[in-house]
Amino acid sequence: MSKNAEAVAALIRARADDAPVRLGLVLGSGLGHLAEAVKGVAIDYADLPGFPHAGVSGHNPKLVVGDLEGVRVAVFGGREHYYENGRADAMRLPLEVLKALGADQLILTNAAGSFRADIPPGDLMLLSDHINFSGLNPLIGEKTDARFVPMTAAHDPVLRAALKTAAAACNIPLLEGVYAWYSGPSFETPAEIRAIRTLGADAVGMSTVPEVILARFLGLRVAAISTITNMAAGLSAENISHEHTKAMAPLGAAKLERILREHLQKME
Ligand code: HPA
Repeated sequence: MSKNAEAVAALIRARADDAPVRLGLVLGSGLGHLAEAVKGVAIDYADLPGFPHAGVSGHNPKLVVGDLEGVRVAVFGGREHYYENGRADAMRLPLEVLKALGADQLILTNAAGSFRADIPPGDLMLLSDHINFSGLNPLIGEKTDARFVPMTAAHDPVLRAALKTAAAACNIPLLEGVYAWYSGPSFETPAEIRAIRTLGADAVGMSTVPEVILARFLGLRVAAISTITNMAAGLSAENISHEHTKAMAPLGAAKLERILREHLQKME
């Protein structure tokens, strides 16, 4: 763990309290208001040295540490994407801080375009696996042998099963699929979508994959859920834009909150 992460964790403990965090949650585009559900202390990223200055509209750059359904959580209201500053490891420090605060479990969320008619806009998709179509990696430059992270069961099977059980208890469909990371910020062309669909992807987005790699590097159990905001380019007549993403994401956010609360209630 880096000294920086320990120092930021100490700063957070001084503002919140010493209770160990059990679970981290990273909120994707249009999902920022989920942080408001947590009773706790909200700290602007700007007050946390080394945290991203998240500049994407639809994100809420605050860390909220507090209780949800009686479980201590840390909610990251926004992330820095690779496309903002060309840094694939932008979320390394925040995830190191999460680990330093005591968490062993991380749930990542994002907005994504679907390739599957049975996972339409407004639905959620649990990531069974991913394809790093960007070719980038947040561990490039890491000098220790820990960089050779196994990614065979990167999306934690036990955590995924728990999330599926929680979704079923809430009567919310939660199909699994493979997410492809495409760097953005431009959306994909229809030909690119056909290509990654042929390669085995079920949905596409501009985030999450570097954080899954970092989480495994840090020894955090990780699962990720996409809120589907649109059918991917060329698959429907609907318009694809960031405005549309922000308008659609709250549909998924409401479902996500119910699943998460159920999951937290059942956590051992
Ligand atoms: N492509 C990439 N990222 C996205 C999309 C998409 O279609 N929808 C929401 N985020």
